[in-house]
Amino acid sequence: MDNLLDLIEKRFGERPDIEAPAEGKETIRKLLDHRVIRRFAEKPVEPGLLRLLSAAALASPTKSDLQQGDILIVADAAKRARIAALLPDQPWIAGAPALVLFLGNNRRQRQIAEWRGKPFPNDHLDAFFNAAVDGAIVMATFIVAAEAAGLGCCPISTIRNHAAAVSDWCGLPDHVFPVAGLGLGWPADPGHMSARLPLSARVHLDRFDETGIEAGVDAYDRRRHGIFPYRQQRDEARFGHAEFYGWSEDKARQYATPERADFGAYVRARGFRLD
Ligand SMILES: Cc1cc2nc3c(=O)[nH]c(=O)nc-3n(C[C@H](O)[C@H](O)[C@H](O)COP(=O)(O)O)c2cc1C
Repeated sequence: MDNLLDLIEKRFGERPDIEAPAEGKETIRKLLDHRVIRRFAEKPVEPGLLRLLSAAALASPTKSDLQQGDILIVADAAKRARIAALLPDQPWIAGAPALVLFLGNNRRQRQIAEWRGKPFPNDHLDAFFNAAVDGAIVMATFIVAAEAAGLGCCPISTIRNHAAAVSDWCGLPDHVFPVAGLGLGWPADPGHMSARLPLSARVHLDRFDETGIEAGVDAYDRRRHGIFPYRQQRDEARFGHAEFYGWSEDKARQYATPERADFGAYVRARGFRLD
């Protein structure tokens, strides 16, 4: 158990008083030791392995058994390069030997209604939301399977900055949309463990509780800075140079600039009503 508790302490800065589980230690250890990987060895990922990981991911739970999370493997190197070229400030996308897109697919449900001659009075926000959640579950499960096989992964939500172009290039019809991309390959370095907010800030017991959250975030900023400080400060021209630059300063700066404000328009253009 020490190993699991050590990993929890390293990640969350607290050591909970918990019992070792009877089974599953290795799986839980791997989950606790997760790292995003952005540097890859020049070694291909076998298409068969991508199929296997897809099967594992698609065995994940799915809302109402509707199976609304799909996977699009971008096998064509030219198409991969075209997508990567949209995001030149993230060179690890071009450097990843494999690229997979995770999709929300609410089209099939609508097709089924039509094929079975039934009404579909559910054209509202929940239709989009359910497909997005299923797509995210499929991606998370794919990552777990990939990391278990020794691969490294980097999710790429920034493909949604170019959602219309990516959708057109990949032939996505109405009611099918990208949730995120995933660059993956064999890690060229082990990455680093990214410290998280304390469990007490994110695990609520019976009732949502944010007592002491601001002090908790301050303490997290300091702890995280001690482990892996930010190398650069975001948008210094606008916000100046902060003497202490922590996670909360970085996230506040990140979201002080509009990001993907046009995504709602894209989703509506793909046929969703978001009422
Ligand atoms: C839905 C989602 C989208 C992400 N999008 C990007 C992205 O566009 N570019 C990127 O470099 N990393 C992306 N990431 C990776 C996160 O930055 C990374 O998971 C986070 O910094 C925490 O690090 P860790 O995964 O090593 O714990 C994304 C992660 C998730 C879950």
